[in-house]
Amino acid sequence: RVVAVIMVGGPTKGTRFRPLSLNVPKPLFPLAGQPMVHHPISACRRIPNLAQIYLIGFHEEREFKLYVSSISNELRIPVRYLREDKPHGSAGGLYSFRDYIMEDSPSHIVLLNCDVCSSFPLPDMLEAHKKYGGMGTLLVNKVSAESANQFGELVADPETNELLHYTEKPETFVSDLINCGVYIFTPNIFSAIEDVLKQKKDRANLRRVSSFEALQSATKALPADFVRLDQDILSPLAGKKELYTYQTLDFWEQIKTPGMSLRCSGLYLSQFRRTSPHLLASGDGIRTATIVGDVYIHPSAKVHPTSKIGPNVSISANARVGAGARLINCIILDDVEIMENAVVIHSIVGWKSSIGKWSRVQASFSLYHSFLSSFKFNESSFSINLNNFTLEQFVKITSVGLM
Ligand code: GDD
Repeated sequence: RVVAVIMVGGPTKGTRFRPLSLNVPKPLFPLAGQPMVHHPISACRRIPNLAQIYLIGFHEEREFKLYVSSISNELRIPVRYLREDKPHGSAGGLYSFRDYIMEDSPSHIVLLNCDVCSSFPLPDMLEAHKKYGGMGTLLVNKVSAESANQFGELVADPETNELLHYTEKPETFVSDLINCGVYIFTPNIFSAIEDVLKQKKDRANLRRVSSFEALQSATKALPADFVRLDQDILSPLAGKKELYTYQTLDFWEQIKTPGMSLRCSGLYLSQFRRTSPHLLASGDGIRTATIVGDVYIHPSAKVHPTSKIGPNVSISANARVGAGARLINCIILDDVEIMENAVVIHSIVGWKSSIGKWSRVQASFSLYHSFLSSFKFNESSFSINLNNFTLEQFVKITSVGLM
């Protein structure tokens, strides 16, 4: 049997995702019309003999309650939210709930970061992991040399795929092969975390007896029960025939900023074309809007037949799109009103905003994506183009929108 665990962090994580995470926890922000965490959960469904899915985080329990019960019913697989009282780190969080995870006596644990966008090739990874025979297998990906330092960089044996060397976000370039935050482990991972916890406690005890200088470094150190999967587990175990890699050739991105959520929404919409085409809108321009490319429209949204929508547009619950409106590459959140002949391009329009007739909301695709929340654009008098805005001006618009 297999148990899947998705690390969802908490409100002190994901701060780069603000302002989008001020209204909903980041893992529940909609991408392609589904909460971010829904995509890894759906991918877990393809794992043979899956017994349970756990979400581990330190968000308030009530924020996940509704989602967790509806997704459990929909998938007919138990999905449960386990709340840490405080952050224990990505490995420490997993370890805190080892008793729950081991209840089903799993042979394998699939561990996923919530904030990555991928096709999650879990069944193939599981097969590869069984062949390697190690304690863990990491999904890895090649990225540009310039962007590699935002991730864990690693070196793998080209023949055996063994993980030979691992450094988390190094200052000097190590490799363009990076850790995707998707893992398969045997239950031995818990012994590995336990060893690290023991070492940390011993070190903390030693410090307690020594000088002022040592006391200072102890106060700077992370709590003794805080264990990071990357620095504390992967780095020391590299090159010991315990960890192996599986390279994805399909899409993979990390979702740390609002701009990335727009790109990842598009990636998931295009995946729907292969996996769940029934979720995509199809329009004839007569009874329904004209649809271009991949578009998601929530069943409760009202979209005028003379509007033109797409590509990469996702429209959430109770949104209204007026006659002649044009939407390209955007996320329209709940209860937004887009009035007649308005144009929205490369933007995220936040909950309850209203875009007036003939308004134009557009961000430069490569620079910033505009984000408007509870923002009122009046009739045609208000037309805006964010193309030439500096970051400071952009931030002002965002914060005005949030008042
Ligand atoms: N429950 C819980 N408790 N979750 C946590 C905690 C914690 O204390 N700390 C982090 N997480 C979750 C985050 O929400 C995220 O899903 C995942 O664990 C990893 O978060 P970080 O430890 O902050 O690392 P990162 O996202 O900057 O980088 C990691 O992922 C990259 C891929 O996206 C590293 O593993 C990198 O090496 C990797 O490239």
